[in-house]
Amino acid sequence: MKKLILDVDTGVDDAQAIMMALADPNVEVLGITCSHGNTKLDNACKNTLRVLKACNRLDIPVYRGCSEPVLGRKRHAGDFHGKDGLGDAPDPDAPGLELLQKRRAAQAIIKIANENPGEVTLVATAPLTNLAVAAQLNPSFSKNLKALYIMGGNTESRGNTTVCGEFNFVADPEAAYIVLDRYTCPTYIATWEFSCRNSLPWSFCDAWLAQDTEKARFMEKISLHTRTMVQTDRYQKELVSGPGFNTCDTYAMAAAIDDTLVTESEEVAVTVELEGTHTRGMMVLDYMDLLKKKHKVFIMKSIDLEKFKQLLMNALK
Ligand code: BDR
Repeated sequence: MKKLILDVDTGVDDAQAIMMALADPNVEVLGITCSHGNTKLDNACKNTLRVLKACNRLDIPVYRGCSEPVLGRKRHAGDFHGKDGLGDAPDPDAPGLELLQKRRAAQAIIKIANENPGEVTLVATAPLTNLAVAAQLNPSFSKNLKALYIMGGNTESRGNTTVCGEFNFVADPEAAYIVLDRYTCPTYIATWEFSCRNSLPWSFCDAWLAQDTEKARFMEKISLHTRTMVQTDRYQKELVSGPGFNTCDTYAMAAAIDDTLVTESEEVAVTVELEGTHTRGMMVLDYMDLLKKKHKVFIMKSIDLEKFKQLLMNALK
């Protein structure tokens, strides 16, 4: 059984990633920690609870995390995910925030990792603020994590938020810097370009949503806004390798769930640019080893797309 903690800023693709994890019989989700990011923190918490309700899994503990980045201004992605972060398709009977745990996200991450040394995989699909705060509170706790999977950053200076920056890293560059500097567990990164290159045909998305289940109907409702937006010329041109359905966060989740999913990765030291006028938040790859970093990360290069599609299909069954 794989034990996971999910750190999310529940937007639409976070919802897809959460549902993928919950659907897998070999996965136990020990907790979900919420961050600012796609939407403001309260919305991210509410959206997470809504997803859990849709999956009948409100038993999973949900923790409130950081409402703003370590430094710099807050950014949200309301244009893309909807003002409420979940497609502006409200549920009048949505669960309330009183269901959140008292413990805060960073403390929960440390506690769960330390109580299960070597067993817990952390999957981060949000700005990395909660993870950075955890490292500040307890600098060595990450040695107790089995692995860390991140959706974020970029390899070819192609941005989706700034000219050179991917949203999760740009939304908190200092946090991304701290995590890539301090975490010592094996770390795998699904970058923006990687998700673009592996985007799926829209016909797959249609078949995925057409499944005759409550979960598929929930997903269709919350993803309509994003889908309409993403199919405009502007968004399709932003993709690195042509048009398609790009569910970024699920790549990191799928890789965490199935060790055989990633068929090629590159091990390299990385850091984050904190100062450039155009490059703040961009991930920097140190191929020449000039930074002399002991800890390298694995950048995902290719995956078994058939397995990935199957995990997505299962998410809505
Ligand atoms: C990332 O930014 C968010 O909008 C998505 O949820 C994903 O985590 C892609 O850059």
